[in-house]
Amino acid sequence: MERTDRRYDRMEGRVQMVSEKAPAKINLTLDARYKRPDGYHELEMVMTTVDLADRIDLEDRDGSSITLESSSGLVPQDERNLAYRAAALLREKTGVRRGVHIRIHKRIPVAAGLAGGSSDAAATLRGLNRLWKLGLSGRELADIGAEIGSDIPFCVHSGTAVAKGRGEILEPLPAPPPCWVVLAKPAHGVSTADVFGRLNVGAISERPDTEAMAEAVCSGDFDRITGLLGNVLEPVTMGMHPEVGKIKRKMLEFGAEGALMSGSGPTVFALVRKESKAKRLVNGLKGFCRQVFAVRMLGKPIDSLD
Ligand code: C5P
Repeated sequence: MERTDRRYDRMEGRVQMVSEKAPAKINLTLDARYKRPDGYHELEMVMTTVDLADRIDLEDRDGSSITLESSSGLVPQDERNLAYRAAALLREKTGVRRGVHIRIHKRIPVAAGLAGGSSDAAATLRGLNRLWKLGLSGRELADIGAEIGSDIPFCVHSGTAVAKGRGEILEPLPAPPPCWVVLAKPAHGVSTADVFGRLNVGAISERPDTEAMAEAVCSGDFDRITGLLGNVLEPVTMGMHPEVGKIKRKMLEFGAEGALMSGSGPTVFALVRKESKAKRLVNGLKGFCRQVFAVRMLGKPIDSLD
């Protein structure tokens, strides 16, 4: 499904270009248990992928240079980009002596809590593993990704999982029941480090039940899933940006079965069973929010890994 395009060198039979789909993720739960001595938070969350995706084209190049271009001016086009860093680290770890040109076709909103940058990096790892025939397992790619960002291991495998530790300890779950996911991103972005920096774990009054959410996902219980949605970062980001609260209230007013901010925000997602209701939500939200999408829940792992 994710292998959309491949070009072969007629002389050598070598793949010269691969494309990978890089889907966005949402958090059905996000709990920060405590702040660790290394400065990161010990997390417990359920993450799942949705059918809103960037596409990454990777073109094999002679030499050793990594170059990158993106259809969006909002992401860095150099070594600050997580996809660039993933390619550089993969070359370093495997001793590959090839260059690559990375093209990112961006659809996932930037700095939005949807792991767009992490998913681009993960897709780059999966794609280069195929392009350069490295034969690395998903686990090995995830371990390399973890050195760059906490969400990258989940994005390497994608699908649905309970994530613990910094986010790199993963227990796979089955796909949640099919439904529509309406995503709305306020105009501004937020910095994950900034949101975590403002979180006072000692003062958290309401925590989501990640174990119960995992059970609800396993049993395919949509009503239970919507009832268990929770994210301890939501009040932090809402305090910084009141539009987040307004969008969530509107979603529920327009009939969403459940709504929650994803990750560190500011994107809010709504879960709805029926397409007609998803459309109604999109129309209502477009009145005051420019980036609104209605997509299907994906929830299944990427098939380009063994
Ligand atoms: O790992 P990543 O670079 O994506 O994390 C961005 C920032 O989010 C970190 O610098 C840290 O401030 C915060 N973070 C955290 N605990 C985690 C993951 C991220 O505090 N488990």
